[in-house]
Amino acid sequence: MKSEILNEDGVHALYRKHLGRDVESQEVLEAHLKGHQTLESLQASILNSSEYLNKNLSPDIWSFLPRNLVRPAPVIDVDVSPSELNAIFERIAGEWSKLGETDPHWSVITSEKYRHANFDQHEHDFYNSGKHLASVIEVFAKRNGVQIDRDHVLELGCGTGRVTAALASSFNKVTGVDVSAGHLRLCRIALEKRGIYNGSFHHLTSPAAVDDLPTCSFFFSTIVLQHNPPPLIGYLLDRLLAKVLPGGAALFQVPTHTPGYEFHIKKYLSSKKPSDFEMHCFPMNRVFRLLHDHGFRVHEVIMDTWTGMPGSHTFFASKSQ
Ligand SMILES: C[S@@+](CC[C@H](N)C(=O)[O-])C[C@H]1O[C@@H](n2cnc3c(N)ncnc32)[C@H](O)[C@@H]1O
Repeated sequence: MKSEILNEDGVHALYRKHLGRDVESQEVLEAHLKGHQTLESLQASILNSSEYLNKNLSPDIWSFLPRNLVRPAPVIDVDVSPSELNAIFERIAGEWSKLGETDPHWSVITSEKYRHANFDQHEHDFYNSGKHLASVIEVFAKRNGVQIDRDHVLELGCGTGRVTAALASSFNKVTGVDVSAGHLRLCRIALEKRGIYNGSFHHLTSPAAVDDLPTCSFFFSTIVLQHNPPPLIGYLLDRLLAKVLPGGAALFQVPTHTPGYEFHIKKYLSSKKPSDFEMHCFPMNRVFRLLHDHGFRVHEVIMDTWTGMPGSHTFFASKSQ
């Protein structure tokens, strides 16, 4: 199918063709028009929906194939209105800002060693773990024969600078971005304490403020996106992958197949904040779509153990010159 701009007629036609029915409400119709620019994009989403798969897969298939291969796509709302996106952001920024004032290092790595009262004794271990993590970039680059442009790395969710400090020594410049002013303050202090002066720090105060961030040659983010609901993950990846200049690359982690995970925007916004950290998931096909739309070539997607449960992946991709 050719890439055609999506309009109301197109939505109705795709529904009739693939689902054999009409769109259930004006609200759903508008959400599709907001969330998908082309017919192709909505068609991909319909063909991946549980409704379509349940209708079209033979019941026998469930009995002899690994279940996860033939499981219909779970309901994960990714496309939401700007006000819903802002509401999600406010909630996440509020949760992390509070942690930034109460127990910032522990909120990064939830070990008793890093509780406020114990941190001084274990500071070395904490920042050393960040060195190991930053060195993963070299491993991925070597394994895939990718030359890293070391001009400027942008780290989303830099926290208290655990990895930022190490990134600063392998790139000419590092920009640490965080939604929590408390974390960011400690990040700045951690770098200064180590005599590192090639860092800049950005307090992200709204989704729109992402547009004010600088361009970069490398985008890095681990154990951050997992704490953001899917619409915010999609938004951040979209805007930040666009900031990577030609010849640059990206390494980031995001859960993509958490068993049993679903996300319903209306339910989420009307629910109470969890007492624990929020954990979320973003469909892998949407990550691929974003990487493709921003001109990246994907080199590797490796299953990782960041979340302590199955389904998290680390993506490594580069943009040609
Ligand atoms: C678990 S900590 C990880 C910190 C750092 N990446 C590390 O590995 O040491 C998550 C950090 O991401 C920040 N964060 C969460 N969501 C964010 C978002 N949407 N944009 C920027 N920062 C975010 C939090 O404030 C917190 O500092």
